[in-house]
Order: sequence, then C-alpha cells, then structure tokens
Amino acid sequence: MAKILVATEKPFAPVAVEGIREVIADAKMELSLLEKYTDKAQLLEAVKDADALIIRSDKVDEAVLAAAPQLKIVVRAGAGYDNVDLAAATAHGVCVMNTPGQNANAVAELVFGLLVMGMRNLYNGTSGKELKGKKLGILAYGNVGRNVARVAKGFGMEIYAYDAFCSASVIEGDGVKAVASAEELFKTCAIVSLHIPATAETKGSINHHLLSLMPKGAIVINTARKEVIDEPGLLQAMAERPDLKYLTDIMPAAHAELAERFADRYFSTPKKMGAQTAEANINAGIAAARQIVDFLVNGNERFRVNQK
Ligand code: 3PG
Repeated sequence: MAKILVATEKPFAPVAVEGIREVIADAKMELSLLEKYTDKAQLLEAVKDADALIIRSDKVDEAVLAAAPQLKIVVRAGAGYDNVDLAAATAHGVCVMNTPGQNANAVAELVFGLLVMGMRNLYNGTSGKELKGKKLGILAYGNVGRNVARVAKGFGMEIYAYDAFCSASVIEGDGVKAVASAEELFKTCAIVSLHIPATAETKGSINHHLLSLMPKGAIVINTARKEVIDEPGLLQAMAERPDLKYLTDIMPAAHAELAERFADRYFSTPKKMGAQTAEANINAGIAAARQIVDFLVNGNERFRVNQK
C-alpha cells in the first residue's frame, strides 16, 4: 500500500487534514502525518518509507531525498517551490509539483489586511489615509497578483501591474494598467505589493534604487518571499525616507533592527500567515493529495515543476 507522508512544520487546519485523509483512503493508500516537527532528523526518519510527500514551506533537500529511497513524488501544497531542491529531486527520479492558485485568495486578502493597517499608521491613533483613488502597483501578475487586483477594485483603487512573463494585453484585459518595467511601477505607485517568486533573477531585486523612486507616502507590502528584498537597501531607504512603510508577511533577517529603528512604520507577522486559512489549507492540501493519487495511479504529471 502506497504511503503518503504529510510533513508540515506549520500544520494545515485539522479540517484540511481530514479532507486529505479521505482522498488518500478512497485511493486505498495510507496517510502518515508529521506535524510541527522541530528537528530535521524527524523528517529524515519519517520519509524513510514514504512513496509520496506533501509539504508546505518545509525544506526538501538532498539529505531528505537521500533518506527516502521509495519516494516518487513531492507536492508543495502552495505556489512557491523555492524550498525544494529541484535538481536533486530530478537526480533522484522524484517528480516535484506545486498546486498553483489554490491559496491565492488567502494571500491576496492578507495584502489588504496589511495595507489598511499601513494606511492607518499601524493603528497608532493618528489620522490615516484611505485606499480609494490611490495607485496600487502589483509586481508580478500571477494567481495572487490577479486576486489582489480583483480585491483592489472593490476599494476603488487605480491599479497598475508589471510582469516580465505576462503580456500587457492579459493585464489590460482585467482593467489593470500594464507598465513596462519594475522601475516604472515603483515610480508610478506609492503602494506596491510584491508577488514575485524567489529566483536567481529576483533575489535582492527590491533594492534601494527602486524604493527611492516611489512617490511620497510609500508603502511596500511583501507577502512573497523575504529573499526578494535587498535588506541593506531597505534599511537605507527606511532611514532616508521617514514616509516609507514596510509591511511584510515574511520576517526579514534584519527584523530586530527594523522593529527597533522603525517601530511606527515597520511590521512583520511572526510566522508566514498569508496561506494560513482553513479554506486555503483545504484547497491546497486536497489538491496536493489528488495530484499524488493521479500521479501514482495514472502517471499524470500536470503541475510538474522539475525536469525529468
Ligand atoms: C506559497 O508559496 O504557497 C505561500 O508562500 C504559502 O506558504 P505556506 O504554505 O508555507 O504558508
């Protein structure tokens, strides 16, 4: 009987685990659960006899793959798969998938949770600003970016987007203004929401230069990845611009310094919370379980992200 391991340092909601359990039981497969583990050794032990693995931001590297001789597939229940060593997975003959779009609405809603908090000066009792009529820049128009645009329309915002891989006609088709570069987006919009993945090209790309281009009253929202920020550049821009706010769902390495020096205009969630809703957990968790069953039973490799 094929064994599916769900290994989540940050667990799914119990209702999502029940849904995953049902999909796996219906397929006559076995579910094994490793939640809230604190030590990599626990993961290495748990993958020993796993045929398939469901993870979230959990790291799957060479050591994990080497400890899992039966492993055939890893599904990252979520969008970003920068936590999986794709080349090592390919070398071990393991298929890697993600579940694109399944948690996008949850992340998009958190963008506005952070944004309203920023516009109201972190609820410090002073007079804030409204979103209506303000220019919002969406950096990368993927599943989350599109949901952010949809919600922003309800707030009456003027919406701009830049995406190196999405055509202007697709963006404009949603009633969003497409701009030609990240520079133009930061120059145009005092509010920018980041939705780029962490890749070799994007790491450190949100730098002092881009931050210094932003109009007065700037707010940067990061629900993407901490690695896309050039932290020395962010610290410099925060020091130079008393109007700049940085609100993030991914705690920066320089969190302590940012919190101490810029307490009135810096905020980080203690743990990445964007996808941490029952709905997103159900959507992504069950999609992951279904993709695994379809792969193991029918060989379906839709959503594969690594080379064969
Ligand atoms: C994603 O890439 O899907 C999000 O960053 C959510 O990550 P999480 O599953 O660790 O909350």
